[in-house]
Formats: sequence, structure tokens, C-alpha cells
Amino acid sequence: MGNLLQPLTISSLTVNSLSTGATGLLFFLLLILMTSAESWRQRTDLPGPYFLFGLGPLLSYIRFIWTGIGTACNYYNNKYGNIVRVWINGEETLIIAKSSVVYHILRSPHYIARFGSKKGLETIGMEGNGIIFNSDVPLWKKARSFFAKALTGPGLQRTVSVCVESTTKHLDNLHEVTSPSGQVDTLNLLRAIVVNISNKLFLGVPFNETQLMLKIHNYFETWQTVLIKPNIFFMIGWLYNKHKKSGQELQDVIQELLEVKKKMIHESDKLDDDRDFATELIFAQNHGELSSENVRQCVLEMVIAAPDTLSITLFFMLLLLKQNPAVEESIVEEMKAVLGDGGAENLKHQDLNLLEKFINESMRFHPVVDFTMRKALEDDTIDDIKIRKGTNIILNIGLMHKTEYFTHPNEFTLDNFDKTVPNRYFQPFGCGPRSCVGKHIAMVMMKAILVTLLSRYTVCPLQGRTISSIRQTNDLSQQPVEDEDSLAMRFIPLGTVHVNEHSTWVSCM
Ligand code: HEM
Ligand SMILES: *[C@@H]1O[C@H](CO)[C@@H](O)[C@H](O)[C@H]1NC(C)=O
Ligand SMILES: *[C@@H]1O[C@H](CO)[C@@H](O)[C@H](O)[C@H]1NC(C)=O
Ligand SMILES: *[C@@H]1O[C@H](CO)[C@@H](O)[C@H](O)[C@H]1NC(C)=O
Repeated sequence: MGNLLQPLTISSLTVNSLSTGATGLLFFLLLILMTSAESWRQRTDLPGPYFLFGLGPLLSYIRFIWTGIGTACNYYNNKYGNIVRVWINGEETLIIAKSSVVYHILRSPHYIARFGSKKGLETIGMEGNGIIFNSDVPLWKKARSFFAKALTGPGLQRTVSVCVESTTKHLDNLHEVTSPSGQVDTLNLLRAIVVNISNKLFLGVPFNETQLMLKIHNYFETWQTVLIKPNIFFMIGWLYNKHKKSGQELQDVIQELLEVKKKMIHESDKLDDDRDFATELIFAQNHGELSSENVRQCVLEMVIAAPDTLSITLFFMLLLLKQNPAVEESIVEEMKAVLGDGGAENLKHQDLNLLEKFINESMRFHPVVDFTMRKALEDDTIDDIKIRKGTNIILNIGLMHKTEYFTHPNEFTLDNFDKTVPNRYFQPFGCGPRSCVGKHIAMVMMKAILVTLLSRYTVCPLQGRTISSIRQTNDLSQQPVEDEDSLAMRFIPLGTVHVNEHSTWVSCM
């Protein structure tokens, strides 16, 4: 499991989380004084750290802030089992990696809210707005209907051609992002492709992609920094102001883009057919159905959703391909055989079973999103476990995929998907009312981008870089550390390399 289960070592921490961790300690001493012990209810029927006069809650909260949410969840599940009771900011929190319970919660209508610091969510505009962390149920439902409409049906049809077009265009301009030593910052290339696609599909306003990518990146950093911080964090200017600024910057840019969009709508004469996501939202705002803050936040979340998840997922896939050259070879062969001369455009009609297995196994073996946060809105009983209304829930699906069902849980092999995997054991996007609303389009996008890329290039990471050797953090999601050149890769055009009949596949030198 490599990185997943790393204990708290200095090398696994970024400089950033170290400093927030250290200052974190300070908060907690103050927190002890400020939080009344009554709110820390304890239950003894579930495994987990002891309450110990409030020391237990304090220590588990420190661990979450210090190591990141994902890392802390894996630590607790590995130490105490697949259902653990801990505390985050004094609130009882269950971390669950048991498939029967996870499946119940995913499909139940009683867990359709999420949890997080109110002040933190306000910083990034998510409190009561948008979809991702909106826990105002009626408003969330309203927003979700707009997302669902844009991400399924006719929107999904256009996706393949837009993905092929954007990927092709970026690959044609590869020389612009290639360093003198022949290396490409691959994660940023994938981000640029995905931002371009999202813009074309959902917003349709030209903008400087480099600038927007940076702002999306900073916004994400702020999101994971503020998400579960104690209230006092938000009172300390030298800690908070930088994050407040990057939280606001992206919101401001989106607002500007929306103003441009409104002008474009105003000036165009044909209004009715083929309205995109942003247009639908602006119309809803004009009819008084949605507030302008809500419209801005929905567009923001639609723009960040793919760059924050899909581009990193694709990056991990490129690493995994080079570690498994036989898999890459068979995927490319399948592509040629199934798609023929039509190339990626034929994706609409043809299935690529092997490629889909590869995508599934990549998301199982090394997920970007490996847990999801929910809140119980009603009392409930699952498998004899009583869950009280208000309990925070973390579904550790990443660990679930490595501890149940699969025959080679800790190995990367397509054999894991040889037989149809029952739904309850494989949930990379969640399911039910609060599942990933982009799950279908995400699969289509990943396939279209991969097919376009792999039919032209084979990609070589720097020597010795593997999925388990690159430095990563696992806070809000599992991500590579980007403060060095180690993520660069060489793109080798397929036409120019000699593929030996007997060798497995193009090897990187
Ligand atoms: C490989 C790519 C992706 C992965 C692994 C992924 C995974 C997830 C997961 C696990 C959740 C939480 C589900 C739950 O709580 O049950 C989620 C939520 C969400 N995802 Fe994705 N996602 C991906 C791509 C996308 C894309 C491309 C979009 C949109 C264009 C998107 C939009 C959303 C939204 C809006 C939510 C929040 C839904 C809600 O709270 O109602 N995701 N995603
Ligand atoms: C990104 O998309 C826009 C259209 O929305 C297009 O004009 C632009 O050239 C694209 N950029 C690249 C590098 O493909
Ligand atoms: C986009 O922004 C980047 C970074 O601020 C800048 O270097 C670049 O010149 C800009 N590109 C265009 C086309 O304006
Ligand atoms: C991949 O996983 C999805 C669930 O996310 C499943 O519906 C699909 O059948 C799987 N495909 C293959 C080829 O295993």
C-alpha cells in the first residue's frame, strides 16, 4: 500500500502542512479552553481512541490537521478496524471502510449533507452555495438539477469531440511547453487540456488558461487548508489572510467571466436551442430562481471539478502505464482494432473494454479521491450500529477497495476486473443521491483524452519515478507534491520509435 499507509514521517509532509501543523498545536491549547466538554459526547460501543477527559478528541483532531484528512482516515482504519469513532473539532466522526455500511450510507436519503467548518466554507464561497459542500438541502437539490442536466444527455454527446479537439490542439503545441531538456510538465499540461474542455462545454468564454489554472490550484490549496480548521484559525490574520485572498480571487475571476457571458448572451440572437450550463444558470438568476452568488459558485465548482480530480487521475494513469508496459501495449492494440481509422471519434459507438478495466483498476489502486464526507441528518441503525443524527461520516472508499472483494488488493493488475465487480465493492464516484454528478462524463472524458494521447505518444517519466516513489499528500484528496521538477515527463511520438516484435513495448531510456 506504500504511500497510503505511511506513518507520520517528515518526508511525507509538505512544508506547508508542517507549519500549519505546528501552529495547529497552539490552537488546540486554546481550543480546550473554548470548547465545552459537553459537546464531546462519547460512545463506547465502537472502536476508536479513548475519550480521556477530552484528550482523545484533541489528539484525533490534531492528527487530522497535521497529517491531512485522507492520511488520518487510513491511520485510524488500519489501527482500529473498518469502522472507527474519532472526533473532528470536537464533533463525533465515524470513519467507515466496510462495504455493506458504505453502500447503505451512499444510497440512503439520510446522509445527503456534508460537514466542514462553516467559516472555512464561507471563505471559499461554498457555505449554502454551489453543490459540492452545500448542505442547505433545498438549495443543493436545485443546484444539482442544473449540474445533472449539463453532465448527462445531450451534453455528454458533445463531450467526445470536444475532448479530442482540445487534446489534439494541446499536443500539436507540445513544443511550447517542452523544456530545453525535452521534458514536459505533464500534470499542468493535463490541467490545461481539462480546463479548456470544461470551458468549452460549460462556460464558453475565452480566458487566459495559464492564469486560471494557477487560481484553481490556489483555490484548492485554500479549500483543503480551511475545511476543518477551528474557528480561531479564522481570527489570526497572518495565518488566514493569504487563504482568504486565494479563496476570493477565483470567485472574482468567475464573476468577471460571467459578466462577459451575460454580454455575449445579450448580443446573440438565437437564444433557445443548445443553452450551456452557464447560460441556464444566468436565465435562472434572471427569473429570480437563484441568487447571483449561487450562480457564481455553481460555475466556479463546475470549472474546478475536472481540473482538481480528472487531470491528476490521468497523471497517475500515465505513471501506471509506464510501470506496466504490457498493459499499455494491449490498450493501444485494442484502440487500433476497435476504433480503426475513425480514431477517437468512434468512441461514441464502440466500447474499449480493456481501457475501461485499466481506468477502473487505476482508480482502485491509486485513487485521487479516496474518501467522501457526509453528515447524518436522521438517527439510523446499520448492521446493529446506531448512528445519531448530526454524526459526521467519512466513507473511506479508497481503503475499502483494498480490503474487500478484490483478489489482488495490493497489486496493480487488470485481473481485478476480470469478473464483473458487484456495485457495492467498487464505488470510485459514490452512488445514490449525493454521488459524483460527473461520474458518467468523467469516464467519457478520461477515455477520449487517453485515446487521443496514447495513439500519438508514449510518455516517459524521469528515471525511477513511480507511483509509489513520487512524494504525495493525502488531505482533501491524494495528490503529488509539485514543488520540484520530478513530475516532468518526456513525450515520445509513436511514429518515430521502433517497436521490436519480440519486446514488450517501447521502453523509456
Ligand atoms: C476521475 C474523476 C472524478 C472522480 C474520481 C470523482 C469522484 C467524486 C466523488 C467520490 C464524489 C463524492 C461522492 C459522494 O459523496 O458520494 C464526487 C462528487 C462530485 N463530483 Fe466528482 N469525480 C470526478 C470527476 C468529476 C467531474 C469531471 C465533475 C464535473 C464536471 C465532477 C463533479 C462532482 C460534483 C459536482 C460533486 C458533488 C456532488 C454533490 O455533492 O451533490 N466530478 N466526485
Ligand atoms: C481553448 O479553448 C478555446 C475556445 O474556448 C480556444 O479558442 C483555444 O484555442 C483553446 N486553447 C487551446 C490551447 O486549445
Ligand atoms: C496568460 O497569463 C500568463 C501568466 O500570467 C502570462 O505569462 C501569459 O503571457 C498570458 N497569456 C496571454 C495569451 O495573455
Ligand atoms: C468499471 O467500473 C464501473 C463502476 O464505476 C462499472 O460500471 C464498469 O462495469 C466497470 N468496467 C469494467 C470493464 O470493469
